Amino acid sequence: MIRQVAGILGIAFALAAGAALAEPRSSPIEACAMCHGPDGIAPDSEVPHLAGQNERYLFNQMMAFRSGKRAHKEMRYMARQMSPTEIGALAAYYAALPPR
Ligand code: HEC
Repeated sequence: MIRQVAGILGIAFALAAGAALAEPRSSPIEACAMCHGPDGIAPDSEVPHLAGQNERYLFNQMMAFRSGKRAHKEMRYMARQMSPTEIGALAAYYAALPPR
């Protein structure tokens, strides 16, 4: 299941490589990696690590950013580009990565 999700996201990533900034929707992982790191470990101390975080928690936070319940300008913008299905796939992807 996790491998399948990573595969789907990998295809989207490959197709959209280079176009991430213009079209964040088609390459979510590359867009997220700018702040949260390519492996879900954020290089900036003001940005949370995502790798190994609970899948349900990640999903709930993304949905809260999306609705505005959890206020954050950049994350609201990112989350609003995505469907709940895409958010679910990202939550599974980051939850499966090894924590620091
Ligand atoms: C412009 C930088 C930036 C980008 C791009 C970005 N994030 Fe974030 N993200 C942040 C910051 C900063 C926070 C902390 C927000 C806060 O202080 O409430 C955050 C918080 C989160 C959280 C909550 C983590 C927690 O521990 O509560 C999740 C989940 C998350 N981001 C997922 C993503 C995903 C998935 C993407 C790609 C679709 C993404 N982010 C793109 C900067 C970014």
